Amino acid sequence: MIYEARGDSVQIARMYMDSLLVESRIVGAVRPDTAFRFLGETFETPIMTAALSHLDLVSMAEGAKQAGACVSIGMGGNEELGAVLSTGAKAMKIIKPYADEREILSRIEYAEANGAAAVGMDVEHAVNVDDAEDSVVVGLQMKQPTLAELEKYIRASKLPFFIKGALSVKDAIRCRDLGAAGVILSHHNGLMRYAVPPVMILPEIRKAVGHDLILIADGGMETGFDAFKALARGADAVTMGKALMAPLRENGAEGVREALRKATGQLQAMMIRTGTKDLKHMDPSVIHETLRF
Ligand SMILES: Cc1cc2nc3c(=O)[nH]c(=O)nc-3n(C[C@H](O)[C@H](O)[C@H](O)COP(=O)(O)O)c2cc1C
Repeated sequence: MIYEARGDSVQIARMYMDSLLVESRIVGAVRPDTAFRFLGETFETPIMTAALSHLDLVSMAEGAKQAGACVSIGMGGNEELGAVLSTGAKAMKIIKPYADEREILSRIEYAEANGAAAVGMDVEHAVNVDDAEDSVVVGLQMKQPTLAELEKYIRASKLPFFIKGALSVKDAIRCRDLGAAGVILSHHNGLMRYAVPPVMILPEIRKAVGHDLILIADGGMETGFDAFKALARGADAVTMGKALMAPLRENGAEGVREALRKATGQLQAMMIRTGTKDLKHMDPSVIHETLRF
């Protein structure tokens, strides 16, 4: 396999996902139920929108709500978050690791006051890809938060707090010990080169943390078949980002709704063919790992 760019974690993860094969357990299978209990709500699907930004996130939220899906949203001001929440969609706000902690604390406060379901931080976006310098994202200075700072943000929030970017057993245990509700396993579109694919490391993390942490798999979820593989290997939910961008651009809320419904249908197709009656009965032994790097 020749990568377009050496160490491109997006390509590596795609290759890994496609190498996972699924065995059939169709005999006697029953119609599957994808109801997903999360943050005090029941969603129709465990496929969420990824923390995106610089897009029409209000239409994204409307589409997700119509599809019975939870929304996560990325960088953006409080006004945008307010507009997303006014759609009635259940949303998790992912806050950037700003160098100025007032930016972080004020966003946590706004999210709480305006009905967000959860908050989080994409700690994987604090430093640059090719050096150890702090990132500047659309003109805003980032900083890698210390453990003490992360703990402060988690404690400052009355909402469940998710750490985006944890991608190892060690990080997941740290997040649990800091008091996070869950982690979003992500390399943020290859911000880390040669990153272990999230779905590859999932079973180890699940084994280490049991059900103390909610595990959300992010990155490269193009179909409900991808989602099934992540769920079977231990994720509670998955996020879909780039795969929703063309439907959003072309058909707005309706495009997002149909794309999420289609992916949920594919997830159901895989569930029935593996004899999986609901999300609580996902069984990792249906997945055959045919490639180890
Ligand atoms: C246009 C765009 C904007 C993004 N903005 C954010 C953001 O503000 N915060 C964040 O945590 N992740 C952001 N991400 C990363 C996504 O949440 C996700 O980690 C990444 O796209 C991998 O998932 P995917 O392969 O399903 O797109 C962004 C991704 C894209 C494509």
